[in-house]
Amino acid sequence: MKLLAINGSPRKAMNTAAILKKITAGAASRGAEAELVHLRDLVFKGCISCFHCKDPKGKSYGRCVIRDDLTPVLRKAHEADVLVLGTPFYFSMETAFMRACMERLWFQYHLYTTKKPPLSPRKKAAALVYTMNVREEDMEAYGKNAIVARSKGLMERFFAPCEVFLCCDTRQVKDYSKYEFDVFDVPGKLKRHEEVFPKELEQAFALGARLVV
Ligand SMILES: Cc1cc2nc3c(=O)[nH]c(=O)nc-3n(C[C@H](O)[C@H](O)[C@H](O)COP(=O)(O)O)c2cc1C
Repeated sequence: MKLLAINGSPRKAMNTAAILKKITAGAASRGAEAELVHLRDLVFKGCISCFHCKDPKGKSYGRCVIRDDLTPVLRKAHEADVLVLGTPFYFSMETAFMRACMERLWFQYHLYTTKKPPLSPRKKAAALVYTMNVREEDMEAYGKNAIVARSKGLMERFFAPCEVFLCCDTRQVKDYSKYEFDVFDVPGKLKRHEEVFPKELEQAFALGARLVV
């Protein structure tokens, strides 16, 4: 059993990465082969709409033809039994790293016909991890629920039933005193980071273990 987790945060040791690391650790605890890829380390672009993946007579039918650092990640995603995408919200969307990855991942499998199913391999399970500054009860007001629902729907169309893991009201920086931060309840955020975030890490570990059985 293979689980691939992809981190769309440019930060490799903060909120999103910490949750994804726990998910991979949870999967590994059940004997799965679990890998975490940080998009920040890669040089790649989004879909260029070349349509090679849509040519039924071409040799790249159903597969992205671009050759760059994302190519091996797309191959691993194709082969994985469980696929987990994690991203912070940036201006109420997935990060540009994750958007570019999603475009390439999804579009290669997408068909403009109702006569055939998508060209994606069905998977055992999938999950989306979102981290964000806002509290869960404020997600609707900032348009975030619609983004989550849209991406969950696409993960389910292409791969498998998709769990959503939300980590809200995150500690955005380690030392708030260095910056101007008066729009947030900083003591409240620090308290939440101390008290709630460790529980979320435990939940992430349990999710990783659950996804691979
Ligand atoms: C460019 C940028 C835009 C952001 N936009 C939002 C946003 O729209 N909504 C939100 O709740 N948080 C926003 N944030 C905060 C991050 O989503 C939040 O701190 C997240 O947990 C960071 O993930 P990381 O620690 O894994 O990098 C933004 C952060 C940055 C750097």
